[in-house]
Amino acid sequence: MKKMISVLVISAVAASLAFANGGSEGAAQSGASSKGLIGVVMPTRSEERWNKDGNAVREGLEKLGYTVSLQFSDDDIPTQLNQIDNMITNGVKALIIASIDGSSLGTQLANARAAKIPVISYDRLLMQSPNVDYYVSFDNYKVGRQMGQILVNGLNLNSPAKRPINVELFAGSPDDNNSVGFYQGAMDVLKPYMDSGVLAVPSGQIERTVIGTLRWDAAEAQKRMENLLSRYYSGDVVLDGILSPYDPISLSCLEACKAVGYGSTAGKPLPLVGGQDCIVASVKSIMSGEQYATVLKDTRSLGAATVELVDKLMNGQTPTGLDTTSYPNGAITVPSLLLDSVIVTKDNVQKDVINSGYHTRAELGL
Ligand code: BGC
Repeated sequence: MKKMISVLVISAVAASLAFANGGSEGAAQSGASSKGLIGVVMPTRSEERWNKDGNAVREGLEKLGYTVSLQFSDDDIPTQLNQIDNMITNGVKALIIASIDGSSLGTQLANARAAKIPVISYDRLLMQSPNVDYYVSFDNYKVGRQMGQILVNGLNLNSPAKRPINVELFAGSPDDNNSVGFYQGAMDVLKPYMDSGVLAVPSGQIERTVIGTLRWDAAEAQKRMENLLSRYYSGDVVLDGILSPYDPISLSCLEACKAVGYGSTAGKPLPLVGGQDCIVASVKSIMSGEQYATVLKDTRSLGAATVELVDKLMNGQTPTGLDTTSYPNGAITVPSLLLDSVIVTKDNVQKDVINSGYHTRAELGL
């Protein structure tokens, strides 16, 4: 984390006036004691992680003396557009946006640029617009590789107990650019095992467009899992593993499997599944031996990195040392600050989840 933040070396000469002066109205509104109003928009309140993200960003900015307008968009695109329109009208000095559909905000981003309001694309890349100043996220391709690696480790693919090992694949929301990195990373790890016949996908459903889950909807994924099980898994064909990009999808897939006897019938153990986000329910499931692993992306670190970036911009400083090649958005390549993620299994829950304070023992029911 320190290493990642240290790349935000300040270039004293290159103070960015454009970034320093957004929204005088906001400064007036937020009172003399505030350093100014910052707009923070998160996609939904109904997922554990965005609440953590929103709070981490808000608390960090407030500690530095900013006033924060934090809004959650109920996974509804028009709501998100309105929230951003209002923030611009209210004179925010910067916008931190985790989008629902990364390509839907073109007009709002153009308006922000016209008002000299810097835009930070938070976790999810804002697409198809030149009016995005920075991207702060995790290394999404690496996260995807970790999702694949979870199956390699858990299913022991380097010395498999049988051939083929049957898996089904799930991907994230097609309108979220992160889904691309997650999928590519995972497939780069898993494809060699498919090519050599160690892994099979009995449904044949492999393309990201076919295996995607709109809005990361776990209920939709559960239905797909139920259909796959009834169509492709009968007789001797047993599902051994699931590639999952998101903890709630992992848990709902496990439910679908339990409903047809996995975990309670001889020869049908629960399939091995990973996930992402390290949500409380999944950590509990990992500790009880059901979900095998998850990928922890520490929202506190992402929040802190974002707060530091915004504060630099507000002080007229230009962050340097960013990744300027990895994230083209269809219009420009967005300078990015990318954090590291960690695979969590039963073995390191204590160290990486509890000792680090990401979840308390009480939250985990311990
Ligand atoms: C985030 C994931 C999250 C997913 C669903 C993605 O953009 O990177 O951490 O699980 O959205 O909210």
